[in-house]
Amino acid sequence: MRRRTAILISGRGSNMAALIAAARAPDFPAEIALVLSNKPDAPGLAQAKSAGIAVAAVDQKIYAGRDEFEASMQILLDIHRIELICLAGFMRILSASFVNRWRGRILNIHPSLLPAFRGLDTHRRALAAGVKVHGCTVHFVEPELDAGPIVAQSAVAVREDDTPETLAERVLEKEHQLYAQALALVASGRVRIEDELTRIGFD
Ligand code: GAR
Repeated sequence: MRRRTAILISGRGSNMAALIAAARAPDFPAEIALVLSNKPDAPGLAQAKSAGIAVAAVDQKIYAGRDEFEASMQILLDIHRIELICLAGFMRILSASFVNRWRGRILNIHPSLLPAFRGLDTHRRALAAGVKVHGCTVHFVEPELDAGPIVAQSAVAVREDDTPETLAERVLEKEHQLYAQALALVASGRVRIEDELTRIGFD
């Protein structure tokens, strides 16, 4: 049984597109059953729709507060019988109660090698810190921002002449591969959370 997966986006949706492409393989253990955006004009929504995926926008601006906004998202996730959530450039902080409800079933991709460079503007900050290796992380989501058991990471070497843009481009290529691999691991039941860490690869 392929796990019914929702992708939550806010913008461009290149990680979303990579997950949709990976899930086209018949033996991929997840199916993308819904793409949900908090911004109705997110370019990724149109792309998902033309790929034949169910899409919905829950416009945060029309809700009185975060509880109402998240309740609306939860209804859509229920209607589509979603089992796993992938945050893919979803730039909205989720409440502890939403995250706890999905604990162990909600993943995020972050453009740094966590726990380094949580938050925004990771590539510029990595260059300013002079790191020689940078990258991306897929992790289970916890209420604390950019924290949670790490499922997979991918590294890139930092070059002398890198700008935030050139570094972002190379990291993004890695993100696209990494997210599909991490989702496959989780959807196939090969990732277990133990003491806030993951154990991977058991049968
Ligand atoms: C990606 O680089 C993702 O890692 C990052 O936003 C970008 C979204 O691009 N996410 C975060 O910074 C979350 N804290 P995409 O819309 O093309 O996938």
